[in-house]
Amino acid sequence: MKGLVLSGGKGTRLRPITHTSAKQLIPIANKPVLFYVLEHIKEAGINEVGIVVGETKREVMEAVGDGSKFGLKVTYIEQEAPLGLAHAVKISRDFLKNEDFVMFLGDNLVKDGIKSFVNEFKKEKPNSLILLARVPEPQRFGVAELSDGKIVRLVEKPQVPPSDLALVGVYLFDKNIFEAVENIKPSFRGELEITDAIQYLIDKGYHVKPHIIEGWWKDTGKLDDILEANRIMLSEIKGKVKGKVDGESKIVGEVVIEKGAEVIRSIIRGPAIIGEDSRIVDSYIGPFTSIYYQTEIIKSEVEHSVILEKVKLKGVVRLEDSLIGKAVTISKSPRRPKAFRLLVGDQSNIEIP
Ligand code: DAU
Repeated sequence: MKGLVLSGGKGTRLRPITHTSAKQLIPIANKPVLFYVLEHIKEAGINEVGIVVGETKREVMEAVGDGSKFGLKVTYIEQEAPLGLAHAVKISRDFLKNEDFVMFLGDNLVKDGIKSFVNEFKKEKPNSLILLARVPEPQRFGVAELSDGKIVRLVEKPQVPPSDLALVGVYLFDKNIFEAVENIKPSFRGELEITDAIQYLIDKGYHVKPHIIEGWWKDTGKLDDILEANRIMLSEIKGKVKGKVDGESKIVGEVVIEKGAEVIRSIIRGPAIIGEDSRIVDSYIGPFTSIYYQTEIIKSEVEHSVILEKVKLKGVVRLEDSLIGKAVTISKSPRRPKAFRLLVGDQSNIEIP
């Protein structure tokens, strides 16, 4: 069995972060979402993975390399444009051959992994196994309508959802999916939809098994989802200090302080993680905050936020519910007149009190 990870696409809902970075590489509890995906695939006993890449391919290839650090053999498959999830399957045929495979969307986080679903698929041998989860806003997803435990219909982002069962971004297929992706047409949004391909399988009498998952799952496509994913993953961490904490600082609860990081005259209330070579000086870091590497936080207060690498915060009181992109600087200035002075990228989103 092989793995197919989708790491192309555009990430429009996370601009401006995704103007310059792949959304699959946004760190959740200081680990890119894509890395969780690859670890879960390995844990399910799969060793060969194809990663579909698009515009951000350089960054993805740099982060994952040949896959050996995950114990995987990775092949990159270039998609010329984000023409849909079923299009991604279509162009991966040479890599997948006729083997069964699990397709995993590179921006989806499934907390408990996928091993049990892979085993279920191997044991019961349906033509496809799809995972469903109950969600409050089904119109944001592909939605399934079931009758007597069987799928009757799948619709992509319906305005009037037939149920609250969303398609999770993990799908298991046998070779018959290739017949389906060859026979469907682009949708209203101009994409070859995997939902339509699965509907094709159902209509042709193939066995598509639904599995409603109980565990936590998130599509990390929006800010609120990233913050929630960060909160869930941080709530599992065990505190560990590998960096330096001075005598005037106070660490409360589960806090990870990575190698080379320094905490000076500050309070850190976990769960929180401070990445390698970051410095926290005269500051307060509150629960559910992840600070990536080489970031400096001075005389500031941050809580329930994700701060990426090489950021500088000085005199910022206080930041909450925020996602701050790479190498951003926010500082308090003594200059007059007292005013916000901003150099902000396209499609940024700033809320002021
Ligand atoms: O997250 C689950 C949802 O994922 C499902 O409920 C939907 O049925 C499914 O269509 C998909 O919806 P999204 O609109 O969230 O998909 P998105 O465009 O965000 O793409 C998902 C991942 O696949 C993302 O990591 C980007 C990648 N991708 C996407 C497209 C369209 C590609 O690699 N190539 C593509 O052509």
